[in-house]
Amino acid sequence: MTDNLLSELVAAIPLPALLVDRAERIVAANTEARTLLGHVIEGRHFATILRQPQVIDLVEQCLRSQQPGKARHLSNDGAQDTTFEVECRYMNGTDKVLAVFQDVTHLEQAGQMRRDFVANVSHELRTPLTALMGFIETLRGPARDDTAARDRFLQIMTDEANRMNRLVGDLLSLNRVESEERVRPKEPLKLTGLIRSTLNTLKPLADDASVRLSLDAPDEPVEMVGDSDQLRQVFTNLVENAIKYGGSGGVVDVIVTLSERDTAMRGPAVRIKIVDQGPGIDAKHLPRLTERFYRADSHRSRELGGTGLGLAIVKHILNRHRGRLRVESELGQGAVFTVILPR
Ligand SMILES: Nc1ncnc2c1ncn2[C@@H]1O[C@H](COP(=O)(O)OP(=O)(O)O)[C@@H](O)[C@H]1O
Ligand SMILES: [Mg+2]
Repeated sequence: MTDNLLSELVAAIPLPALLVDRAERIVAANTEARTLLGHVIEGRHFATILRQPQVIDLVEQCLRSQQPGKARHLSNDGAQDTTFEVECRYMNGTDKVLAVFQDVTHLEQAGQMRRDFVANVSHELRTPLTALMGFIETLRGPARDDTAARDRFLQIMTDEANRMNRLVGDLLSLNRVESEERVRPKEPLKLTGLIRSTLNTLKPLADDASVRLSLDAPDEPVEMVGDSDQLRQVFTNLVENAIKYGGSGGVVDVIVTLSERDTAMRGPAVRIKIVDQGPGIDAKHLPRLTERFYRADSHRSRELGGTGLGLAIVKHILNRHRGRLRVESELGQGAVFTVILPR
């Protein structure tokens, strides 16, 4: 094969690719490779261009043994760290090594997210489990005949078991919501009625916190298509948060407004605002609030039995409904969570 044809073949590979000859020079490279490694690379010794020891070893190895191999090439595209998998193949007929770079950043990130998630879940489950095991020990030993202590410990054990139960429940809901995220909901429903009944269900919780729930909605039922159980969960999670974190002794307002041309939806939409008068959320937390297990005030969340998954569930349900969640808050000024749904 002529060198010209080889260069053309390399140029046609849709991934960064280059050829190294037996004299260890780069004899061909495509545009993608030049973008990744620098513009003047042809004719240079490969080690001065590839630089990273594991990649240099790979090419040397492949030239020597004529066996294929893989290595990682770490880079940065200006915005973020990127990881490439470099694969080398020896081309017998021409005595050259072809190196092709594949961007595996997304795969690496997905793997990292999975590992973080498992670590988080394990940590969240271990805390109540450790407490339960401790109390079982105590009840078997020192507190065996102490009736008063036994009742107190059993109460704490019930609370811890409930916490684990909530966590498992939220994990299962998150899993269900995520697996359905691409299936468009198609059940016709009446939104105002659904919100009203959700607020009724939360009334006992609000009463316990001396919070007044107020609903300001148009008279019409607001008919739309959605998944009523999931939307109920959205409003439950948001109003529950408003009561738990923001409400104490105050009022939580739920305000429903309709518009024919919503700026965010570019069409007919309904906005549901959940407004509390609580301590609010520091701006630095806002972008990460819907991440799993992210808590702005983790001490308070745990004290109130939170799992840190409520807003992650809300986000996925709204994605499925092609809706949005907006959060506005200033420290000391309460918080406003706005759900925007297309109609
Ligand atoms: N209305 C609110 N006022 C202040 N902080 C809030 C409010 N809603 C949510 N947060 C913060 O956001 C975090 C995440 O909420 P969420 O995902 O529902 O988890 P959880 O309530 O289980 O802790 C909470 O831990 C809390 O710190
Ligand atoms: Mg919550």
